[in-house]
Amino acid sequence: MTTRALIDKLESTQTLSREEFKELLYCDDDRLFERARSAADSVYGKNIYMRGLIEFTSYCKNDCLYCGLRTGNKKALRYRLSKHEILDCCEKGYALGFRTFVLQGGEDTYYNDDIMTEIVREIRATYTDCAITLSTGERGAESYARLRNAGADRYLLRHETANDGHYRSLHPENMSPANRKNCLYELKRLGYQTGCGFMVGSPGQTPDNIVDDLLFIKDLKPQMVGIGPFIPHSDTPFNGEKPGDLRLTLNLLAILRLMQPNLLIPATTALGTIDPTGREQGILAGANVVMPNLSPIEVRDKYLLYDNKICTGDEAAECVNCMRMRIKSIGYELVVSRGDFKNAVAPCPYPTKQAPPRQAASQHR
Ligand code: 5AD
Ligand code: FES
Repeated sequence: MTTRALIDKLESTQTLSREEFKELLYCDDDRLFERARSAADSVYGKNIYMRGLIEFTSYCKNDCLYCGLRTGNKKALRYRLSKHEILDCCEKGYALGFRTFVLQGGEDTYYNDDIMTEIVREIRATYTDCAITLSTGERGAESYARLRNAGADRYLLRHETANDGHYRSLHPENMSPANRKNCLYELKRLGYQTGCGFMVGSPGQTPDNIVDDLLFIKDLKPQMVGIGPFIPHSDTPFNGEKPGDLRLTLNLLAILRLMQPNLLIPATTALGTIDPTGREQGILAGANVVMPNLSPIEVRDKYLLYDNKICTGDEAAECVNCMRMRIKSIGYELVVSRGDFKNAVAPCPYPTKQAPPRQAASQHR
């Protein structure tokens, strides 16, 4: 099939066969980006949503092979933010126009359900017009329920890879791909706007693994999908591995957009790290969210998932202004809004002004 025909098929049926997905994944036809961008525009217009990322703890009990915060990295600098420090970040963020706060951290048992619900409750009470997103890894169903009741609206938990064998090669033995997926289904069941996602080019990832990811996303039907290139961290076992490919990442953003036009898709910091204009290219390929860092400047260079992370020395205000200019330069607008997921509206069966066909009904009388 030609690339054009593949794009048409993906747009009209929201899926492709395994072989067709692989063909589109590795194409170098920029029409894929144009079509994805107009699909995003048709749902979200020229709006790009911003989320204030608060990296509240760099402690992590896990030992994922790719991540700089893994417990085995004894060189990692560790910190925890108090409830008051987190609320200070929200206050600064609100003044800068953020209406979504994302609390992201390693899996740190210090933040048990009592502490975490207290933090969520206080943000909820102070910022009634804001969305609260959590990204604190795998927790139990009851914990997710308590946090939801305390006022959390959304949850980000990347599935990392949908293929069991590949998952096991990226994680220590005590982590299971089934548990990760169960957490995501549970989050959806509890009514969280849920985000999954994966790294592009993580060690051992095959084209078939990526198709597995797309099919898993199709099944989960998340509201958000975060994907960014894998970038090696020098104090992890994946030191020296090659980073994920920019083009492949952009193609994936576009394919996701065409599969589900109303998805919330961030142009990630990792994308901006492998290429100085990566985030702009991400938006032009279909992304519609950016997540500038709201963490206190003193801790930013301690939350290092991978090498050479950008924006570690900038004030939040600088990042927002920088993002606003970058987005404007490509014809889009950074908006002050919660930026909620838009539910698909069923298409009107009578697109023109033509009246419904009455005779058809009368025939059955
Ligand atoms: N390169 C790119 N992304 C990474 N993440 C963790 N380590 C790396 C890395 N080395 C991503 C994971 C995780 C998210 C918070 O950051 O997908 O879910
Ligand atoms: Fe952080 Fe540009 S977005 S400095």
